[in-house]
Amino acid sequence: MEYAHHLAEQGYAFIPGSYYKSLPDINYTRQEQFLADLENMKLAYYGLTLDPYSPGRRFRAYAQCRRDEHQRLCFGHFTPYLQTAKYNPDTGGIIRSYPMLSDALINNPILHALLHDDIRFIESYQKVGSPDALTIGIHFFRYQATPDMPAYSSPVWLHKDDEDVVFVHLIDHSPNMLGGDSLIAGNPKCIERVLKLESLFDTLVVNHDKYHAVTPVGCRQEGESDVSTRDIILVTFQRREAA
Ligand SMILES: [Fe+2]
Repeated sequence: MEYAHHLAEQGYAFIPGSYYKSLPDINYTRQEQFLADLENMKLAYYGLTLDPYSPGRRFRAYAQCRRDEHQRLCFGHFTPYLQTAKYNPDTGGIIRSYPMLSDALINNPILHALLHDDIRFIESYQKVGSPDALTIGIHFFRYQATPDMPAYSSPVWLHKDDEDVVFVHLIDHSPNMLGGDSLIAGNPKCIERVLKLESLFDTLVVNHDKYHAVTPVGCRQEGESDVSTRDIILVTFQRREAA
């Protein structure tokens, strides 16, 4: 897989959304089914809960998943979710409890297709071992901003994550969104690449080799709506002994 190779060589990879639309599991060619599944997924973002652990107007739900012997995914909260203070000195160091993904999401075929492909990616990447020995986290995030209340990640600056490999899949963003650009840096004083996830399923995947950040999300003060949103799925893979 060329993207896994790019991640190994460069510390990040951008995967265009068109790649995911070509996956048979995603049902893109069965438009009616695909659009119904996508609509269900987009609706789920309205049911997320405001993150009580960090500022920044992010609404969240979280699950972990495992593959059973029949390659089916099962979901739950199997191990405590902790961001260490080492990797997140801003709001790390405490065990966090986020609401479980809704049943509608857990049964969504698009989510399953994305997860199976991320797992195949990790198998092909090889640098973190078998995905069946890793903790797989699924975070649904909505950044929601108004003109005078931006939404932003934690930490907001260049950082590395606790997890060994992190996928950021874009599901949607409103046209009045400002910011939300991804930054890649070899060291915190030298920005190497600026990327924007713009189209459905556009994906950034990062490992520990480089720093990354996403710029705060604002809301353009024009037109009808004074609320902007950016909806993503984070899929994380972490060695269990490092958890
Ligand atoms: Fe991060």
